[in-house]
Amino acid sequence: MARTALVTGGSRGIGAAISKALKAKGYNVAATYAGNDEAAAKFTEETGIQTYKWNAADYEASKAGIEKVEAELGPLDVIVANAGITRDAPFHKMTPQQWQEVIDTNLTGVFNTVHPAWPGMRERKFGRIIVISSINGQKGQFGQVNYAATKAGDLGIVKSLAQEGARFNITANAICPGYIGTDMVMAVPEKVREAIIGQIPVGRLGEPEEIARCVAFLADDEAGFITGSTISANGGQFFV
Ligand code: CAA
Repeated sequence: MARTALVTGGSRGIGAAISKALKAKGYNVAATYAGNDEAAAKFTEETGIQTYKWNAADYEASKAGIEKVEAELGPLDVIVANAGITRDAPFHKMTPQQWQEVIDTNLTGVFNTVHPAWPGMRERKFGRIIVISSINGQKGQFGQVNYAATKAGDLGIVKSLAQEGARFNITANAICPGYIGTDMVMAVPEKVREAIIGQIPVGRLGEPEEIARCVAFLADDEAGFITGSTISANGGQFFV
């Protein structure tokens, strides 16, 4: 029987590529989105992938949404916690609100997405948790104290979940994308972006599909020995 996968933030950017890659591999895919109804409707029309609207930062909304997905598509086997936002500012200009919004979505959002589905995965003795972290969680980034904190936090989450999930055949891994050609990166001022591209040895931004490929690899039934690990896909910009 086809396995079921949830991709948060799955209708745009890296998430959309992940949703499509998993569908192509035969998964039932649910893609969540927080606000952009138009993009979600277009995505469903183009791909046939069902979208669900809830805010990953809201625990009760996530719990109710996951119950709905499981009732409609089947119990979740794969969770890709991908939803994320930026509120970049140098630390001296960063507001408590910019800090909190990023923590709520990028870090608490991972808890909110995995926690409601975790008991079912334990019962069924199968699960694949894949968290989309970032190169900037590994190396830090000027202007991203908030974002880097959440993305480093993701690595702590998967290393801990890996230990708790192991005896239930649940793996938990992180992917650290470098700079990928999405709206999020295109929002970085052009001069800054050009300077960043100059630091990438392969000489270009990554493609969302290059991250989706890593997700499909980790989601596979045959990837059961890979857990608590981090895959870096950053064009050589940073080596751990
Ligand atoms: N390193 C060192 N100094 C830097 C710097 C850097 N990377 N960036 C800026 N500065 C310096 C500036 O030159 C400036 O110096 P002076 O005061 O001497 O002129 C000072 O810092 C302040 O800069 P600004 O006044 O320009 O600051 P700002 O309020 O306009 O904010 C910023 C700048 C928002 C941080 C902007 O530099 C920026 O957007 N940087 C990119 C951050 C980034 O990489 N974000 C990643 C987004 S994509 C993503 O997150 C996906 C992923 O996972 C990779």
